[in-house]
Amino acid sequence: MPNTVDGRCDLADALSETARVVSERLETALPPPEGENARLHEAIRYGMLGGGKRVRPFLLRHSASVAGADDENALHAALALEMIHGYSLIHDDLPAMDDDALRRGRPTCHLAFDEATAILAGDSLLTLAFEWLADPRTHANPSVRCEMISGLALAAGSMGMVGGQAIDIAAETMTSVRPGLVTTLAQMKTAALIAFSCEAGAILAESSPETRRALREFGSDTGLAFQITDDLLDAIGDEHALGKAVGKDAGRGKSTFVSVLGIDGARQRADDLIDRAIAKLEPFGSRADMLRKVARYVITRTG
Ligand code: IPE
Ligand code: IPE
Ligand code: MG
Ligand code: MG
Ligand code: MG
Repeated sequence: MPNTVDGRCDLADALSETARVVSERLETALPPPEGENARLHEAIRYGMLGGGKRVRPFLLRHSASVAGADDENALHAALALEMIHGYSLIHDDLPAMDDDALRRGRPTCHLAFDEATAILAGDSLLTLAFEWLADPRTHANPSVRCEMISGLALAAGSMGMVGGQAIDIAAETMTSVRPGLVTTLAQMKTAALIAFSCEAGAILAESSPETRRALREFGSDTGLAFQITDDLLDAIGDEHALGKAVGKDAGRGKSTFVSVLGIDGARQRADDLIDRAIAKLEPFGSRADMLRKVARYVITRTG
């Protein structure tokens, strides 16, 4: 990683460095687009290799750096997080879910291929993520690998991302939705994986419970602010900058932070969460400057 430990490296450079390395490594980690299942493998690669901010790998690498874990281990594990995220987006865009046509500036996976192939590409990425984490390159200590696997499973499953997606869809047809339910669904569908991305840095470093909790709580608040900003950008963002259609949430009757708090209320909530997230980094001093910067970026981004 470039000079990040003392926080002097520019955020934009650091983000693009992680995005580049993650994309390069995914090129070889993903199955080659050949053989009997060339089309399935092409769909997997299409979903994973066409852009993406790679925020979760970035948070894992920099949480690992704060906690003192090895960057190679962190980068290896970061690919598994991105596989889960990539699968969640492919499935999120399906006609039975959000029915979206544009993702990362290109046709969604089910339109570029077909629905069955997109479902199976997502399934493949979900399972590959755990195969990948089980590899000794995640960590030499098998019990650390086990903790990584169970932590990711919890964040991604029905108590986390998948559970949040289920509430998100169910809420489309509810007659009234309280703000608390929107918070719960966002915590589950988005913040759980982002919280794990940060906690994983401490797991890889075999840190104290205090360090692990601080990074996890930083990630949880940052993750919730990330989804609030996603909701705001759907309402007031630019399709070109986002690479996805805008105005879709209101069109589908989604319950979002914008629908329950309004634009200003949602902005305020995101600001408050990021202040609280940054306060959690206090014990780490200037070592955590890059995490502070990325937390601010989460609520000021336009893409
Ligand atoms: C979009 O995630 C979906 C949410 C969880 C809000 P990202 O905004 O991280 O999407 P990419 O990976 O950069 O395209
Ligand atoms: C999706 O939230 C969260 C996931 C777990 C994929 P959204 O449905 O708001 O994400 P976008 O706006 O389509 O990227
Ligand atoms: Mg959705
Ligand atoms: Mg969506
Ligand atoms: Mg959205």
